[in-house]
Amino acid sequence: MQLRCAAFLGSALIATHAAWGWGGEGHQIVGAIAMTRLTPEARAAIVELLGDEDLATAGLWADQIRGDPTYDWAKPFHYVNLPRTAEAIDLARDCPTGECVVAAIPRFLAEAANRSLPHEKRKEALKFAVHFIGDLHQPLHAGYKDDLGGNRIQIVAFGDQKTNLHALWDTVLINHRTSGDWKRLAEELVAAAQPGLVAEWQSNLDSTDWANESAAITRAIYRDLPADQKVDEAYYAANIETIRRRLTAGGYRMAAALNKAFAAAAVPAPVAPTAKPSGQRAPAAEDRRQVPAAD
Ligand code: ADE
Ligand code: ZN
Ligand code: ZN
Repeated sequence: MQLRCAAFLGSALIATHAAWGWGGEGHQIVGAIAMTRLTPEARAAIVELLGDEDLATAGLWADQIRGDPTYDWAKPFHYVNLPRTAEAIDLARDCPTGECVVAAIPRFLAEAANRSLPHEKRKEALKFAVHFIGDLHQPLHAGYKDDLGGNRIQIVAFGDQKTNLHALWDTVLINHRTSGDWKRLAEELVAAAQPGLVAEWQSNLDSTDWANESAAITRAIYRDLPADQKVDEAYYAANIETIRRRLTAGGYRMAAALNKAFAAAAVPAPVAPTAKPSGQRAPAAEDRRQVPAAD
């Protein structure tokens, strides 16, 4: 769909829009995958905050408000940059003030689940969290500052599409064969997801680890960039599985992160322990749940 628009409006639109995150389709796919794995508690909390809107649509909002100066503060939250020579993210070095995507994810998940905050603030926090979880699974959102995550690297794709490296990974490769049918692609990714991988993805909700996975792929993207900066069917064939994996991982992790955040939100604050008569059974798991620290 985006490419069809671009045919009318010119490639500048792709370049401008694509700097904002996965393109619309990427965010919609990640959100649609997440919708398939929500617990009833998380689903209820999402309906309470978003009404009729689902996660596929909610993930688009953080890009739609980027022209609004009220939200300028959120601009650095879409990505994290690290030195080209670094093996891994170092938050003290790469995100010292907490203004990066790695820190934004636990922050907005915690805000969304915090019932003492106003409804509107929680709603915005949920939409930010959903968007940033998607963004962090686009490898180049853990990128390099000197070329703005690949935005400054000009690319010609499939013979005649002028784009840039970042936009190539945000939108162009996703749309190359799908013609904007993101719903079908989301369904296909859910059907193809290997249970072992899904369990592995859902068991690790540490956004620093997600960023390190993206950073490792980013290193490979730069290593494998064709010298003439032209990408063709062979490049697509070599990379589309990586993109499919990142979209799928992002979707399942989004569900797991929201399930965890809203399970915590549903539990009343723990009461101070009272002395129990000896021989009393240990409390059931349900009673022992604590309101966890944000992670
Ligand atoms: N601007 C600067 N660095 C960026 C990145 N890694 N991704 C997206 N936009 C950016
Ligand atoms: Zn974004
Ligand atoms: Zn992007």
